Parts: sequence; structure tokens; C-alpha cells
Amino acid sequence: MLTSSKGDNANPVHTVAVVGLGYIGLPTAAILAANGIDVIGVDVNSSTVAAVNNGDVPFVEPDLGIHVAGAVSQGRLRAQRETPRADAYIVAVPTPFKEDKSADMSYIAAAARAIAPQLSGGELVILESTSPPGSTSRLAAMILDLRPDLSIDGQDGKPAILVAHCPERVLQGRIMAELVNNDRVVGGLTPEAAEAAAALYGVFCQGEIHLTDATTAEMTKLVENAYRDVNIAFANELSVISDHLDIDVWELIRLANHHPRVDILSPGPGVGGHCIAVDPWFIVAADPENSSLIRTAREVNDSKPGYVVDQLQKAVVDIDHAVIACLGLAFKANIGDVRESPAVEIVRRVATLQPDVEILLAAPHEVQLPQELAAFSNIRLVETDQAVEAAHVVVLLVDHDIFREIDPASLEGKRIIDTRGFWR
Ligand SMILES: NC(=O)c1ccc[n+]([C@@H]2O[C@H](COP(=O)([O-])OP(=O)(O)OC[C@H]3O[C@@H](n4cnc5c(N)ncnc54)[C@H](O)[C@@H]3O)[C@@H](O)[C@H]2O)c1
Repeated sequence: MLTSSKGDNANPVHTVAVVGLGYIGLPTAAILAANGIDVIGVDVNSSTVAAVNNGDVPFVEPDLGIHVAGAVSQGRLRAQRETPRADAYIVAVPTPFKEDKSADMSYIAAAARAIAPQLSGGELVILESTSPPGSTSRLAAMILDLRPDLSIDGQDGKPAILVAHCPERVLQGRIMAELVNNDRVVGGLTPEAAEAAAALYGVFCQGEIHLTDATTAEMTKLVENAYRDVNIAFANELSVISDHLDIDVWELIRLANHHPRVDILSPGPGVGGHCIAVDPWFIVAADPENSSLIRTAREVNDSKPGYVVDQLQKAVVDIDHAVIACLGLAFKANIGDVRESPAVEIVRRVATLQPDVEILLAAPHEVQLPQELAAFSNIRLVETDQAVEAAHVVVLLVDHDIFREIDPASLEGKRIIDTRGFWR
């Protein structure tokens, strides 16, 4: 079953509870509110609830502040810790992986336990968290376990709830624009659920809304990120091979990409974030025997920080009291999000292996050191110019635009490790 709809059907939903007010939930809550829906944001974190009720955003995302402030002041958006009654629920809680790389479903389970008592039948429940195949069915099963008087298809005359998955593919830093403009995939446990979810997203989404079943929608999101992970792994492997063959990998990829059907992504210090570095593992966990390429790509990308650490250790081997300037900490350019960041991993490992080396960290998007780095006495957060000036070795870990302001003359005579091809 795959149909396409622009979500043009009339949307009967007036109140939406958005469960989880993070990078995904809060923008979704704000954009729904801006389009006339009454939104109650739900979060277990009291300071998030307080911030939203003040019209504030507890993290950095361009244009979100103005939407939240406007929606709160118009009385369309409020936040609370308790899950309320609503016509629709959008679940946008975290889905990290566990030690064994399988998905931690405990946040979704907690959301299900809180939603179940509020249902009376006819409500729409949408799982937006990135989830392993089968998760939407599991969410419905958790709810129906608690509410055996309800059903997903009206069987035995029990009132139905409409359960769907609608994965999110926005880019942090551009969330407000992409929420409106991106195409979406909506997968229902029933066709009616998919239609109802598409109608709700059609309230603000100007992209195409594609309807499918829930498991295909879950896999679509995972596959998009696995595709990028495999391509980046190829680029990262090429970067190591190129070093050994004394070839400039950036020149190599630039030339290869002139082929009309070749599009190699960029190498880097590894792959971070809570999406590309995490989601492929959900596919591996779902079918370990048949996912060797996806697993290998993850392993290649996970090994890249170690390669950069080796390069750094070699760069300081003949320098007494070496100072390294580490530029950037986030998992990608121009944001302050350090989740699964290879830059954090590299800095942590160098600080551990080389306690004699002073690490000056320029992280213009962070106000303080992440917890895993805070305990090191040989790491200091400083201004970019200060780090570069004092350093024997400069390692570019994140291609933040602001690093373009570094005066090239200040790099002269330093050993440079440029993991992003920034200074080419
Ligand atoms: N951030 C992205 O760019 C992005 C993109 C696509 C998909 N996703 C997916 O969206 C989901 C949410 O990601 P995020 O980046 O918004 O996470 P986040 O950590 O920024 O926000 C999650 C929020 O959920 C709250 N929360 C946790 N348990 C809760 C509960 N039981 N009830 C209510 N609130 C609860 C947390 O306090 C937090 O505020 C994840 O599955 C993620 O993989 C994220």
C-alpha cells in the first residue's frame, strides 16, 4: 500500500498534546499552534515546562523562539508535566540506543502509560520518535494492554484509536523551515490512521505527504540515515587510504564527483548526533544476519575518531609541553549539539592518553564543557584566537562558519590536522 496525499482532507483535530518538548516536539508544537491548533506540550523536565510557559526555548534553534513566544502569548501553546486529554497525541520522546545497540524503548513506554488513561476512543496517536521496525505496533499494544476496552480497528465493537508513525527528517538549525517544506512519510496501523495523521500534518506541511504502513514508515527513516552513514563511511575509508597513498582525499572526491552518477559525501572526524550514528543500529538489531554492510559502515565511522587521535599523538610526539588547539566540539557545523559527537570523543581520548599535553578548546557554540570533559585539568575552553595563537598543533574538528574568521597568517608554522577539508 503506497498512496500519496497532500494531507488535504479536513483535519478534525482541535487539541494536540505533544509529548516531549525537545528539538522535535517543541518546533512541532509551535508550528501547530501557529496554524490554529490548541497545543499542550508535555515534558517530564520541569525546567523545560517552565521555559515554554515563559515563551522561552531551552535550547538553540533559529526562528523557534519567535514561534514559541507568539504561540504562548496568544494562548495557543502551554506546557505541563501531566499528559492531558486531547484529540491527538504526538510522541516525540528520545529513542537512544542501549549498551547492546538496541533501541531504548523506555521513553516511548512511559509516554504510552501516560496517554492510555486519557483515551476514550477516536483519538489519533502519532509516534514521531525515530523507532525500530514494529515500534508503532508495540506502542499500540502497550496502550491496549492498559485499555482493553479500546481497539485499533473497531473490532468487537470496541472504540478505535488511530495509531500512526510519522518520522521526522528535519535538519537542526533549519527546523522551522524544513518542518513546513519537507515531504513527509506517514504510516498508519490502519489506512484510516494514516489518513487522519496526514490530515493533521497537512495543517502546516506544504511538502508532499506520502502514506504507507507503519513499519515501512519506520524503516524509511532508518534507511535514509543508514544510506548517509554508508556513504560517509565510504568517504572516511577513502580518507584513510588516501593518507597512506599520499593522495589528497578532497581533491580525489571532488574529481570523482564530476562523474554524472557519483556523489560521494565528505569525510570527517567520525559521525555523530543522535540520528546517523544511532539509527542504522536499529536496522542491524532488527535483522543482524542480513545487515553486514550497514554494520560495517557504522564500525568504519566509529573507528575514525581513533584515527584522528593517532594523528594527533604523532603530531605532538617530538614537542615538549605541547599545546593542541581543538576547533569545534559539536557533532556538525554551526550548532551546539554535542550528542554522540566524535569531536568530544577525540578530545576526551587525547586528554586521557596525553595528560602532559595542554588542550585549548574553541567551541563557540557551547557555553560550558560537556560533562565528560569537565573533569580534565588539561582541557580549557578558550576563545578561538587564543587557542590558535598558543598552539603547536591545530586540529579542525568541526567546520563551523565562524572559524572562517581565523586569520590564515595565525596558522603559519603550526602543524594542522584538518578533518573536514576546511582550509582547502
Ligand atoms: N533532533 C533531531 O534533529 C531529530 C531529527 C529526526 C528525528 N529525531 C528523533 O526525534 C525524537 C526526539 O528527539 P529530540 O532531538 O527532540 O530529543 P530531545 O532530547 O531534544 O527531546 C526529548 C524531550 O522529551 C522529554 N521526555 C523524555 N521522556 C518523556 C516522557 N516520558 N514524557 C514527556 N517528555 C519526555 C525530555 O525531557 C526532552 O525534553 C528521537 O527519537 C529522535 O531520534 C530527532
